[in-house]
Amino acid sequence: MAIVTGAANPGNIGSETAEIMAREGASVVLADVAEDELVATTRALADKGYNVASCVTDVSSEDAVKALIAFTVEKFGRLDVIDNNAARTAVGADLLVADMDIDLWDKTFAINARGIMLMCKHGIPEMIKVGGGSIINISSGTATGGNFFTTAYASSKGAIEVLTRYIATQYGPYKIRCNAVAPGPIMTSSLKRGLSPELRDIFRRHTVLGEFGKPSEIGEVVAFLASDRASFVTGQIIQVDGGSSVHLSTSVELAEMMASGNMPTA
Ligand SMILES: NC(=O)c1ccc[n+]([C@@H]2O[C@H](COP(=O)([O-])OP(=O)(O)OC[C@H]3O[C@@H](n4cnc5c(N)ncnc54)[C@H](O)[C@@H]3O)[C@@H](O)[C@H]2O)c1
Repeated sequence: MAIVTGAANPGNIGSETAEIMAREGASVVLADVAEDELVATTRALADKGYNVASCVTDVSSEDAVKALIAFTVEKFGRLDVIDNNAARTAVGADLLVADMDIDLWDKTFAINARGIMLMCKHGIPEMIKVGGGSIINISSGTATGGNFFTTAYASSKGAIEVLTRYIATQYGPYKIRCNAVAPGPIMTSSLKRGLSPELRDIFRRHTVLGEFGKPSEIGEVVAFLASDRASFVTGQIIQVDGGSSVHLSTSVELAEMMASGNMPTA
């Protein structure tokens, strides 16, 4: 029995993850603030024969999160898995620290960091009742280094990576595992809409596999972490990024030099 937050958008990471988990036999509650999209996405999964339900939820609200957990337990009898995928994502004004809009910073942290803490605060007691569970927090590759945009977003993702280790430590003795998945550039509808050709090219060049990831490639890793196949994995931050985070910053230029026939010499 699983909850996936931020699952409203068809074809994006949350809905793809919900479908993969449902295909593997889980009953899944899809939760999101975007009511119309949430209802339509859940209906499309139900029409494929999956055991799913939807619950409109603002994860930054403690009352709403309590209601989501209560709905889930009432509907399906237990809670085993939480995929904390909801986030305030692309905000064009999230740029340099000296220009930071405090409201933007606070809203980003309220959804991305407090939202995950609330889901864990109210979900963990239900998992303890059934002898354990698995929590997966969706972070971001933006938290692995400094950059010129997504300052508040990346900082909020850094916060949840630390929270992931604290939850793994505190609730491991109750057989609750907690891991984070940090996606690199994944071609979702918002990136398709919002990314200029120049930025697309930069991301692609810095992904050693040479392309953007697909939402399902995050969902597959989440489903693995949710399952007993990952029974000895906890407290980890797993980069699912086509290699964006593994190469030295100089390697992109060196690869281009070599491609043009200039072998670098030391
Ligand atoms: N697409 C990428 O390249 C990428 C890269 C790194 C990390 N991520 C992370 O993956 C996750 C999914 O992102 P996505 O790219 O599929 O985009 P998305 O916009 O489809 O997912 C975010 C969802 O969160 C929902 N949401 C926003 N505020 C909410 C709230 N207060 N309560 C409940 N739901 C709320 C949105 O309505 C949306 O459906 C996010 O955590 C994002 O930070 C994505």
